[in-house]
Amino acid sequence: MKPSCDASSAGGASAIPRSPSSAAGKLLLAPSGPDDENLLAPYTQDWTHKWKAPQCPAVLQPRTTEQVAGLLRHCYERDLHVVPQGGNTGLVGGGIPLANEVILSLANMNQIISFDAASGILVCEAGCVLEELDAWLRPHGYIMPLDLGAKGSCQIGGNVSTNAGGLRFLRYGSLHGSVLGLEVVLADGRVLDMLSTLRKDNTGLDLKQIFIGAEGTLGVITKVSLQVPPAPAAVQVALVGLESFEKVREMVMLSKRKLGEILSAMELVDAAAMDVVVGKAAWGLRNPLAGGSGANPPFPFYMLLETSGSGEAHDREKMEELLEAALEGGVVGDGTVAQDLAQAQEIWKLRELIPVAMEEEGRVHKFDVSLPLSAFYALVERTREALEEGGVVMGEGGGVRVVGYGHLGDSNLHLNVSVPREAPDPPEVSRVVSRVLPWVMEHKGSVSAEHGLGQLKKTYLLQTKSKEVVDVMRGMKKMLDPKGILNPGKFFPDDA
Ligand code: FAD
Ligand code: MLT
Ligand code: ZN
Repeated sequence: MKPSCDASSAGGASAIPRSPSSAAGKLLLAPSGPDDENLLAPYTQDWTHKWKAPQCPAVLQPRTTEQVAGLLRHCYERDLHVVPQGGNTGLVGGGIPLANEVILSLANMNQIISFDAASGILVCEAGCVLEELDAWLRPHGYIMPLDLGAKGSCQIGGNVSTNAGGLRFLRYGSLHGSVLGLEVVLADGRVLDMLSTLRKDNTGLDLKQIFIGAEGTLGVITKVSLQVPPAPAAVQVALVGLESFEKVREMVMLSKRKLGEILSAMELVDAAAMDVVVGKAAWGLRNPLAGGSGANPPFPFYMLLETSGSGEAHDREKMEELLEAALEGGVVGDGTVAQDLAQAQEIWKLRELIPVAMEEEGRVHKFDVSLPLSAFYALVERTREALEEGGVVMGEGGGVRVVGYGHLGDSNLHLNVSVPREAPDPPEVSRVVSRVLPWVMEHKGSVSAEHGLGQLKKTYLLQTKSKEVVDVMRGMKKMLDPKGILNPGKFFPDDA
């Protein structure tokens, strides 16, 4: 079983928001005094505290597709703008109003509709929380095909709308493959029933695909049908320490060769990221490769490897053989295989809690990019060097921290630069961070590997896709939402 892991299980920290259950159950939340402002805060402010709705007339929480359709029809006729919202864990400001849009929260639409245990096909409402779906499936012998640090709050509708990647992507691939069907309500209230439960259906265009990753700009997802994978009978988790990124690349190749089809996760944690997480004393986490007293010098890189297979003894043997070969060949400097579920969970926390630990460090410039492995870590090194050369004070205790981690197996790097929250960015920091995404483009990477565009990166659409491609996207938006009431000012560049 892949361990569940969130901040609340790490020594009581609770930085990952839970669904705002106190407000769930009401169909309409509208502020009429200061207390109600607090009631709306979980919806109007994002997890990173970078975006806050200047005003929000109401949060709508429909319970049925018909209610969603009725509300959208009402808004469409009156030119009222609407922001669809799931668990509000998005990292690009996509779910936060820019002006006075109404928030349409899917939190009350959280029912499982059907599950076929033979085919592994789940149909549920869009507001189901990812972790709850996973927990519901496990006694039936299945798991969700995706997993992310925000699982305790994010909703499947939000996951589909952002085409979320996460920690199981290497094994189960993109939601473009796992989602079999969707029910979507268009801006004018028309309901598109595409809720197929078939794996194969080539009758006409596969229209549901355009709503996967559309970030709430084309329609509101109300129901989802998914192919879910069987729960693996045996899971092994290992952590290895490596002396250089060249060794990391060697280890990627060796792991693929030695573990083959049972390899299910390959995550990177650099020394700075490891430092930040183990530095949170209240969480009580330790680096298992740092020696009993924690005194061993840290490795510059760590890799978390996971296998998911069907034979405990066989899979364990394969993982141990990999570690042996990697140690003998000088690819890794040290390594450990978790002996039980508790140890596996501890290792996973070292990776999953990096974003939470970084939020505690300060205001974080978050970069979510895909890069060829040949250029992968150079971005982190280059950023660090440029800041140091510019005389920026680095390190703990009020300095700027640069960490690199991410989904190595998918070539997806998360570069985070934290700056003290209270002060504005020093000019040198602004200059260096403004160069990150242009560098990624020069190296033929993606500026948005898995978190989406939202408000943060909408200007990059025109810079990274051809005019013809963006024109077709805009044409689709115009056709499905001619008045532009859904999530205005997000995703598409402003001149749309
Ligand atoms: P929200 O944040 O509410 O909304 C996100 C976007 O989708 C918005 O544009 C919103 O308008 C739209 N939307 C939401 N619901 C609907 C709907 N039903 N219909 C139409 N549009 C809708 N992301 C990853 O890809 N991989 C990770 O590993 C990962 N890890 C994370 C770890 C942490 C600690 C945090 C805080 C976030 C992480 N994320 C990750 C980002 C985020 O959790 C995902 O993008 C998630 O899929 C968002 O789901 P949500 O329900 O919170 O959506
Ligand atoms: C992750 O992989 O941890 C998430 O995508 C969140 C982040 O980028 O910090
Ligand atoms: Zn990620």
